[in-house]
Amino acid sequence: MDVRHDPVLLHETLGFLLGGEGLYLDATLGDGGHASALLDAEPRARLLGNDRDHGSLDFARARLARFGDRVTLVHGTFAQLPQAHAAAGGERLAGALFDFGLSSRQIDDPARGISFMHEGPLDQRLDRSNGLPLNERLALADEAEVAQALREYGDVRGAGRMARAIVAAARAGALGTTRDLAAVVGRAGGDSRPKALAPVFQALRIWVNDELGDIDAALAWLPSAVRDGGVVVTLSYHSGEDRRVKHALRGEPRVSVSRRLPVMDDAEAVGPWEELTRKVVVPSNEEQETNPRARSARLRAFRRKPR
Ligand SMILES: C[S@@+](CC[C@H](N)C(=O)[O-])C[C@H]1O[C@@H](n2cnc3c(N)ncnc32)[C@H](O)[C@@H]1O
Repeated sequence: MDVRHDPVLLHETLGFLLGGEGLYLDATLGDGGHASALLDAEPRARLLGNDRDHGSLDFARARLARFGDRVTLVHGTFAQLPQAHAAAGGERLAGALFDFGLSSRQIDDPARGISFMHEGPLDQRLDRSNGLPLNERLALADEAEVAQALREYGDVRGAGRMARAIVAAARAGALGTTRDLAAVVGRAGGDSRPKALAPVFQALRIWVNDELGDIDAALAWLPSAVRDGGVVVTLSYHSGEDRRVKHALRGEPRVSVSRRLPVMDDAEAVGPWEELTRKVVVPSNEEQETNPRARSARLRAFRRKPR
């Protein structure tokens, strides 16, 4: 299917990221929109491009072919970036971009079962070559773990009741498609409007892909990977992502949503970053109108202090 993904906050991202010659990381290549603009804007830039989705990598590979050997592409999650970076030579990064979440191509592909707007198999994995689809994971899952995911990643009300209904349906083999999940959510919560479905679909997608665990792994690795003066730009689309970036790169303790307790981590508390965006950057009204998916985007940028 041909769905175009418009790179979000493109001008602002490049404004922070570009710092002359060197190796740049695009950890979330997607359609390669930010990456191709970066390589055009800085002819001395080389790119290490990563994505956990084979389909996105194939698309980006074709799009970036004109840049020849300035581009190296790798398949993997953020947690695998240290190995991928080392295998590519380990040169310290001039800049790194994390455009979290999903591309329009992924959201609108019914075969992935990500959106309740399209009927499709209840898979939701970004990397379909790894792990189990969502409905199979749910059939094996502990109810309490699913309830916690609904609460933490979707702020779902009545999370315990909802998790019980979802896990029971999965174990009964009655959760084959997105439509099945929407029906279970509607029955358990008494509301099947999009505003009730969206948080459940989002929470389960974050859970099945371990999206936040992966972000933590990348944030812990970045201080050693970025060169002095190099910049990290993050684009977050929900508060779980943005909170992690803010706390880890500011060197503040993270606060667990469910327990409301600070989660201390010595590596995070050191904080070798200068924050370039004390006030988060959001898309202009014009960008929000032309690209509604950009609406929730929050850009943060941090510069590596000298070692
Ligand atoms: C919003 S899209 C990126 C769009 C891209 N900036 C562009 O301009 O076309 C996010 C991409 O990151 C990938 N991704 C999300 N989480 C990931 C993770 N934990 N590890 C690796 N890739 C991830 C997704 O598969 C998706 O292709």
